[in-house]
Amino acid sequence: PQPLRIFSGMQPTSDSLQLGNYLGALTQWVALQDGNEAIYCVVDLHALTVAPDPSVLRERTRRTAAQYLAAGVDPERSTLFVQSHVAEHAELAWTLSCLTGYGEAARMTQFKDKSAKQGTEGTTVGLFTYPVLMAADILLYDTNRVPVGEDQRQHLELTRDLAQRLNARFGADTVVVPEPHIVKSTAKIYDLQDPTAKMSKSAASPNGLIELLDDPRRIAKRIRSAVTDTGHEIRFDPEGKPGISNLLTIFAALTGRSIPELEADYEGKGYGHLKVDLAGVVVDWVTPFQARVHEYLDDPAQLDDVLEVGAGKAREIAAVTLERVYERTGL
Ligand code: ADP
Ligand code: NA
Repeated sequence: PQPLRIFSGMQPTSDSLQLGNYLGALTQWVALQDGNEAIYCVVDLHALTVAPDPSVLRERTRRTAAQYLAAGVDPERSTLFVQSHVAEHAELAWTLSCLTGYGEAARMTQFKDKSAKQGTEGTTVGLFTYPVLMAADILLYDTNRVPVGEDQRQHLELTRDLAQRLNARFGADTVVVPEPHIVKSTAKIYDLQDPTAKMSKSAASPNGLIELLDDPRRIAKRIRSAVTDTGHEIRFDPEGKPGISNLLTIFAALTGRSIPELEADYEGKGYGHLKVDLAGVVVDWVTPFQARVHEYLDDPAQLDDVLEVGAGKAREIAAVTLERVYERTGL
């Protein structure tokens, strides 16, 4: 098959990524490196929407990059960089914002949810135009596929609409129209305390979160305290048994075992048994992961070098796309 251009990013909005980021997106990033041209970004401009302390933001950007590397993003095969190091992201975002309808942006459910919590005065214009910046991130690299979790589907639809609009107005090959790459089985990992809500770095309570860099003993405790469902049968049934189904999804994804196999194994056993075993599986996975993250964080010069080389490669591609868009739009 033809190599595809792959692009994706995560916000450095926390000291640690959470397990949903890893299973929903990062594992796909690693898999898609083979045979494709992959570009992965720490989207620090997006993280400004949560008004971080400057030194905290800078530190989280480095920690996020270190977690990409520890998960298997290979800078020899992929381009890894920080969004704010490539000025073209903000420039294309402005151009796209002038093609985006106000109502169209106002319909984004993530914006509606977040702005409802923050009120009109607490909500920034940056939060409102966040999906437009995300569209710019993707379109700058002539991206074919965007590996993300289910929560990004609507933003990807907007990106596609904007790409098609650009091409309709300014010429068919102005930008590439991207497609989401969403793997159904792990597209939405749920909060351990509220298995109807997605696990998120920005969850109101941390107890339902599995943070990859957290103390393994606390991770184990959170898994053992996960909310389960009525009844006692260990069966995959996302509607009827969302808690147990989420635990089975995580178990299967981290071990490579199938859900029917796990159901057979746990036949006649209790929820507690599954939770204790899953805690062991997660702890066995995070322990070497954390050691790799700390190796990268302990060598800041090497990490800076990877990010600088990556920004150079990204800039070369982004500059060509931006020039094409500027030229066609009359700038
Ligand atoms: P968060 O909501 O944790 O702040 P981001 O918005 O930075 O995460 O998203 C980074 C990537 O992780 C995106 O591709 C997103 O779809 C994916 N992702 C986030 N949470 C989950 C989840 N609970 N399950 C699956 N994928 C997720
Ligand atoms: Na998100």
